[in-house]
Amino acid sequence: MKKLASIALLMLAFASLTYVVSRGISSYQKKENLQKHASGIVLYEQRCATCHQSNGEGISGLYPPLQSSDYVVENKHRIINVLLQGLSGEIIVNGVRYNGVMHPVPGTDQEIADILNYISSEFGNGEMTFAKEEIAVLRELHSNHSSN
Ligand code: HEC
Repeated sequence: MKKLASIALLMLAFASLTYVVSRGISSYQKKENLQKHASGIVLYEQRCATCHQSNGEGISGLYPPLQSSDYVVENKHRIINVLLQGLSGEIIVNGVRYNGVMHPVPGTDQEIADILNYISSEFGNGEMTFAKEEIAVLRELHSNHSSN
């Protein structure tokens, strides 16, 4: 009986150790993610969260979600353009119809990239990454287009 109790105790100790270690790792990863996206988080709160909400869920029928958005995942260049040029007219996001107006987002190429990297990593939009150079190319394309 005593032996059984000490085995149980040992198992309990092992389980809690595993728990503590895995908690430690996941909170470490979370912290690392926060540091990596510090600029994106701040910019998102300032420039997007009023409409799309802090958690990216938006407001159904009014402001489309950025959380697990099929629109975001579908086309990388298109969402860069949404930020650079704004968006209006009818769109369907995750099966819900929207017909609103979003104005172009002010910011440097780096800031736009930071916001998009934050959205794609935190809001479950897969592993897309955005470099400031990609933003610059699309910005350049539009400025040529509009001056022609
Ligand atoms: C004033 C409100 C407002 C703000 C601020 C705003 N948006 Fe939007 N956004 C909208 C609306 C409205 C639409 C849908 C436009 C339409 O119906 O054509 C939209 C559409 C989008 C879409 C495409 C649809 C989707 O949900 O996947 C993305 C991506 C997006 N916004 C990202 C952002 C990001 C990132 C920011 C901040 C940098 C931002 N928006 C700031 C109102 C806003």
